[in-house]
Amino acid sequence: MSTPPKRVLRSAAWFGAADKNGFMYRSWMKNQGIPDHEFQGKPIIGICNTWSELTPCNAHFRKIAEHVKRGISEAGGFPVEFPVFSNGESNLRPTAMLTRNLASMDVEESIRGNPMDAVVLLVGCDKTTPALLMGAASCDIPTIVVTGGPMLNGKHEGRDIGSGTVVWQLHEAVKAGKISLNEFMSAEAGMSRSAGTCNTMGTASTMACMAEALGTSLPHNAAIPAVDARRYVLAHMSGMRIVDMVWEDLKLSKILTREAFENAIRVNAAVGGSTNAAIHLKAIAARIGVPLELDDWTTVGKGTPTLVDLQPSGRFLMEDFYYAGGLPAVLRRMGEGGLLPHKDALTVNGKSIWENVLDAPIHNPEVIRPLDKPLVADGSICVLRGNLAPRGAVLKPSAATPALMKHRGKAVVFEDIDHYKARIGDPDLEIDADSVMVLKNCGPKGYPGMAEVGNMGLPPKLLAQGITDMVRISDARMSGTAYGTVVLHVAPEAAAGGPLAIVRDGDWIALDSYAGKLDLEISEAEIAQRQAELQAKPAAPAKGGYQQLYIDRVLQADEGCDFDFLVGCRGAEVPRHSH
Ligand code: FES
Ligand code: MG
Repeated sequence: MSTPPKRVLRSAAWFGAADKNGFMYRSWMKNQGIPDHEFQGKPIIGICNTWSELTPCNAHFRKIAEHVKRGISEAGGFPVEFPVFSNGESNLRPTAMLTRNLASMDVEESIRGNPMDAVVLLVGCDKTTPALLMGAASCDIPTIVVTGGPMLNGKHEGRDIGSGTVVWQLHEAVKAGKISLNEFMSAEAGMSRSAGTCNTMGTASTMACMAEALGTSLPHNAAIPAVDARRYVLAHMSGMRIVDMVWEDLKLSKILTREAFENAIRVNAAVGGSTNAAIHLKAIAARIGVPLELDDWTTVGKGTPTLVDLQPSGRFLMEDFYYAGGLPAVLRRMGEGGLLPHKDALTVNGKSIWENVLDAPIHNPEVIRPLDKPLVADGSICVLRGNLAPRGAVLKPSAATPALMKHRGKAVVFEDIDHYKARIGDPDLEIDADSVMVLKNCGPKGYPGMAEVGNMGLPPKLLAQGITDMVRISDARMSGTAYGTVVLHVAPEAAAGGPLAIVRDGDWIALDSYAGKLDLEISEAEIAQRQAELQAKPAAPAKGGYQQLYIDRVLQADEGCDFDFLVGCRGAEVPRHSH
């Protein structure tokens, strides 16, 4: 490819002038030991780093940044690394989701206010990927995603164990009295034995697959293990590539098209991805100005088989996925089967998504299944509607029990997470395997932050009887590493006056995932009466400041849980001078 003509760089508005302002911008930068020639027309590439020792999944990112820098320098760019708020899924309470929007604001203002011509987003743990893409989308400069990569397969007592998924499994075994607490704890160190993100197809791996399917990363970005040297080669190549993207003016809006999102929805089904993707893709699309509705997950995704046999839906882990061919192999299989709707969607390397994968080898048909032997015949996220979820709810069929996908049962209601915790262990709780567990007030405003508590554990007395799954319904999310017949993201949430708030113990609830229905079987008159009687549950005690802003301005799940005032692309016009 011939090199496009050089353009006037955005960063020249800082460093290009021989005047008082140029003096100030350059002089202070020079205290880092930067020579004059770095300021003379080189693309300045921001490296947006979510490194933090409190985000263990991203704790190796300084090393990744070093390799990105090598690539940028080699291609004639000038790298500048900057930190942004790091959302660590494992440590942040009450939930990392609460600060996804905060991080996105940090990213957006950092990009727009600073001298940079393009940005490399270093992402890994769940919320860091959507947060950085949201912030970058609101600016729309050339952008490339570099993911930190998954951890090596967990090892415990001679077998592979998967991040998160094994926690739910072993914890259920403890509650069922099958293993001791000591046996449970002994899996800790083996589950997380290398740098990287969760090695299951949890939300981090899902969002890494989404970034690659959207075309925002180089091929193979999703699956190369964090500690594999090829991860650092990919970082280097991404650094080289972003410099050319500046000269080509290959902005994020040329990649993040409606077509790219439709591809991503299909890919989510094919990899057995997390339900969280439905919220994050909506938020990213709304930032860049692409229309995307919850029902697109049905209209676009329906009928897409799950081909990737990874936990929590299936058996294997991300290391196996990479060795089997990674996402390019899945994309190839989808394309050959007519399941990739937009083969010509542009990706960051300047090629179409199909050009990138058409020769991709598939090394292990157990891990990446053939089209005629899928893990699940239709793995697309089910969108449910009905009088219990007027603005929708979701269910992940690949992680559900087929026999429960259509189910009618009596509600056992938990008013909030504390009520659930106080009640679930009660041996006198009136509940059986056919009951429908209903959890309220765990949505965006209610928790606040829409925590991953939707896969609420089953009552110990039923676990002890060997019950492994029940229908659960809430306005919460669930971890991408979790499983079960779990209806999530009910909108509007209970705390926003949604009908979930009026469900009472003993009400009949009908779920039909195949028909996309979720209904409370009481009359409209009864619904109206209960709604009139509804005592608004006092709002969750916000800890002031940011939490109050969150509760006041967060949108519902079907709208991506962004803040109302953050939706949209505000561009990256150079702001006025600071002095
Ligand atoms: Fe960070 Fe799972 S907790 S990726
Ligand atoms: Mg999570």
